[in-house]
Amino acid sequence: MSLDQLMAWIPPGSPDLELARQIQPDRLPQHVAIIMDGNGRWAGKRHLPRVEGHRAGIQSVREVLETSARLGLKVLTLYAFSVENWKRPAAEVGTLMMLLKRYLRSELATLLENNIRFHVIGRPEGLAPDIRAELDDAACQTSGNSGLLFNIALNYGGRAEIVDAVRTAMTSGLAPADLDEESFARFLYTGGQPDPDLLIRTSGEMRVSNFLLWQIAYAEIYVTDTLWPDFRRRDLLEAIVAYQKRDRRYGGIAPPVAAGVK
Ligand code: FPP
Repeated sequence: MSLDQLMAWIPPGSPDLELARQIQPDRLPQHVAIIMDGNGRWAGKRHLPRVEGHRAGIQSVREVLETSARLGLKVLTLYAFSVENWKRPAAEVGTLMMLLKRYLRSELATLLENNIRFHVIGRPEGLAPDIRAELDDAACQTSGNSGLLFNIALNYGGRAEIVDAVRTAMTSGLAPADLDEESFARFLYTGGQPDPDLLIRTSGEMRVSNFLLWQIAYAEIYVTDTLWPDFRRRDLLEAIVAYQKRDRRYGGIAPPVAAGVK
């Protein structure tokens, strides 16, 4: 997949085409991670129950996933359910799980058509057996795909992930002297994947909410006021255009601007 493929998919005359033209294909983020927030507020503004916001948010998941796959991103990680989300009313948690199950059943064909590999990060063992069975099935059926890696964070907590990684490291036989940042990262749920270059959060909140705490060390953070159910292809493209204008220094200094080069 490539920027050209994305542009061929956007209907002629759509303003998204102009945005897509602004993207530099050689400077794409490899990994985009998204904190999907604002579903409850989206529903509240429409005098609807909160769960209607989650239901509407699924269309955003579809559009962002297909855009990412067509654009040629390597990894997309969506924060769908945190370890803290169990504190929500049982009916809301039940609806979120039901939506997830339905989503997996209805979207498997799209994942296969778009060469997307599905992967769960978090503690799936804490989820109900029927949900786990759907997740395993989607991961298994898409395991041979070579395009976008779609991580879904479920029963996920960044601190829990670090604790789990420490436990795995301690039982792995790795000598403490051989443990460094690179070897430790292999024990994270995202072991072997590039760290997120771009972290997007919708609904204007300036928090990282226990998401990918280790991996976002050098991520560019992009916060938009758009509520998740309103987040569309255009919003993702805008975030990528903004990311490409950032000067990533990783704690160093900006490279000198060569004479005559802008
Ligand atoms: C945060 O909004 C959103 C969530 C906790 C769940 C996200 C879930 C979905 C988008 C739907 C299911 C996803 C998949 C992949 C099928 P919030 O409820 O905290 O909103 P608020 O801050 O406005 O209350």
